[in-house]
Amino acid sequence: MRIWFAGGCFWGTQHYFRKIRGVTSVRAGYANGNGENPTYEQVYTDSTGFAETVEIEYDPAEASLEFLVEMFFLAIDPLSLNRQGGDEGTRYRTGIYYSSEKDLPVIRRVFDSWQSRFSSPLAVEVLPLENFFPAEEYHQNYLEKNPGGYCHLRPELFALAKNPEKIRNYILALREFTALAAGEKDSLALMANAAAILKERMGFFWVGFYLANGSGSSAVLSLGPFQGPPACMRIPYGKGVCGTALAKKQTIIVPDVEAFPGHIACSSLSQSEIVVPVFGPAGEVTAVLDIDSMEKDAFGEPDASFLERFVKAMTQN
Ligand code: SME
Repeated sequence: MRIWFAGGCFWGTQHYFRKIRGVTSVRAGYANGNGENPTYEQVYTDSTGFAETVEIEYDPAEASLEFLVEMFFLAIDPLSLNRQGGDEGTRYRTGIYYSSEKDLPVIRRVFDSWQSRFSSPLAVEVLPLENFFPAEEYHQNYLEKNPGGYCHLRPELFALAKNPEKIRNYILALREFTALAAGEKDSLALMANAAAILKERMGFFWVGFYLANGSGSSAVLSLGPFQGPPACMRIPYGKGVCGTALAKKQTIIVPDVEAFPGHIACSSLSQSEIVVPVFGPAGEVTAVLDIDSMEKDAFGEPDASFLERFVKAMTQN
């Protein structure tokens, strides 16, 4: 099976997808432009319409299309139009190109799920593949031939590509929860099952919700549905990681709780955490989702991307 991804400079995207088990071949090339067999120099003029693209061949028994599209989204800035990392131009646009219409519903599902995180539209095109020409030989596996060569992808993405078990688990957890949440309006019941699914599927040390009571800076968080050891029952606005996420209205990742000023230690075993706000219809924070790990540095951007979609699925009805 084949799928084509434009994710900015193809040196980095080829290196990234080559590390994923189930991907059997990756070719760097130029897609969806005008003319035939363009050279790098022609594409570089940014007037050919071609996008730097990787052609992925994969074994669906080992790597599903859904998983590959998720891995693609994790490796791009999906809001950035015609720019990834230090590279700018239409040749560095982001896109998913398919050769079989059967792939479209899966691509759309992941696309819509990512869109739910943001209020501005994604800058990722989803289109049929019109054409693809492999790039010159010196561009193939460029970063293996030139270790230390320019790469716009963060190094931790290569570690993720080699060991994507957590992503596979998040995909199952998010799919299970989205199905369960469809049509359900009872937020307490949804929070209870969200905590259970995250605990069961992801094996986190502590997963739970704090509910916001009161408004503005007089709001207080009180303990809601959770899984794990007993926890603090109340957290004031602006205090601890949870109270900070409430005040700032944004996801907070704490790699080392000891280094976070004002961290509230409910359990001495907790070493790192992530807190994601849950928004109400008027954009107010109604609760926060808090996840703790017994290891340092357990959470990053990939966790934020899945957990923000989790809480969106909770309020979709
Ligand atoms: N550590 C959190 C408090 C909640 S517990 O981790 C369950 C904080 O600083 O807000």
